[in-house]
Amino acid sequence: MNRELDIEQPADLLAYLHATGRIPPGEEPAVRPLSGGVSNRTVLLQRPNGEAWVLKQALAKLRVPVDWFSSPERVHREALGLRWLQKLAPPGTIPPLLFEDHEHHLLAMAAVPQPYDNWKSLLLAGKLDLDHVTQFGRLLATIHRQAYLQREEVEPVFVDRSFFETLRLEPYYGYTASQVPQAAAFLQALMDATRQRLITLVHGDYSPKNILIHQGRLVLLDHEVIHWGDPAFDLGFSLTHLLSKAHHVAGHREAFAQAAHHYWEVYRSTLGDMPWADGLEGFAVRHTLACLLARVDGRSPLEYLREEERQRQRQAVLRLMAAPPSTIPTLVQTFVSTLNTLETTRT
Ligand SMILES: Nc1ncnc2c1ncn2[C@@H]1O[C@H](COP(=O)(O)OP(=O)(O)O)[C@@H](O)[C@H]1O
Ligand SMILES: [Mg+2]
Repeated sequence: MNRELDIEQPADLLAYLHATGRIPPGEEPAVRPLSGGVSNRTVLLQRPNGEAWVLKQALAKLRVPVDWFSSPERVHREALGLRWLQKLAPPGTIPPLLFEDHEHHLLAMAAVPQPYDNWKSLLLAGKLDLDHVTQFGRLLATIHRQAYLQREEVEPVFVDRSFFETLRLEPYYGYTASQVPQAAAFLQALMDATRQRLITLVHGDYSPKNILIHQGRLVLLDHEVIHWGDPAFDLGFSLTHLLSKAHHVAGHREAFAQAAHHYWEVYRSTLGDMPWADGLEGFAVRHTLACLLARVDGRSPLEYLREEERQRQRQAVLRLMAAPPSTIPTLVQTFVSTLNTLETTRT
């Protein structure tokens, strides 16, 4: 078999699937590349028997404007994530893993049935449904809680944090610290604390972009940076998406702010009684501020924010970093009121 297999080449993919016995000789499934990701080749395969698979093959060089490399080994980290999240997350929220190939750095999982929506697209169109937000909070809290309860088994599987370091801490926090000197001490202290907070399973890419919605139910994708670490990172990363949309999506600021508040409440009540729950909120506030800035000045800025929005978000975050709120509801309220003030005082 050709070692340089590219699953986006349909003829090569079919030859590979036949040669490895994944599909029987003569079967000709329909093959279609899926867009949306930057770090993988992702292909939908529809078999004559009605099954649909998604194949994902990790790229060594990410499809971003700057040179950014990451080992294709991370697809096997994702496969581990798929296996374990299947047991830890609520039923139906994780597509089953079908197979994994170490030679070609690829995996196959069950496709989410059509029709589905990507949650990010719905949110950017102003289609905010609180039931989706409820599920989003419950899904994350369930993973954090169940992984902690089963930590003797789960922690050893996910101790390697190298992808979290190279795909999150450096590009989001480290790089941002080098770009925004006023935030450097805050970000450096947060990076240090994050490396010490080895508490439970952290998804690391908990974003509406990685949520598909089929028949009203959320499905979570994309587990390449899953690791044992600080659950507050997932909260900050995800709250940043809701708050950046509060900032950007015209006419829906208050609704997104309420959604962020609701998300936190659902998360917190689903999490229940964890020995580490008390200190969590303060770190979630700090990760939210750090990610709000990183999505403006880091290596992976939010593509939908306009230049004036970037500037305003940076200004609002720097004000809040000077005296971080102690709770998520206060953070949400203060972030939004600061944006409103900055907008009206704009010259
Ligand atoms: N199991 C699946 N079912 C249907 N679509 C999927 C599935 N997995 C991925 N996709 C589609 O492919 C896109 C990219 O997949 P993702 O796992 O997020 O890869 P990346 O790491 O490149 O972001 C998703 O946004 C989604 O549209
Ligand atoms: Mg993705």
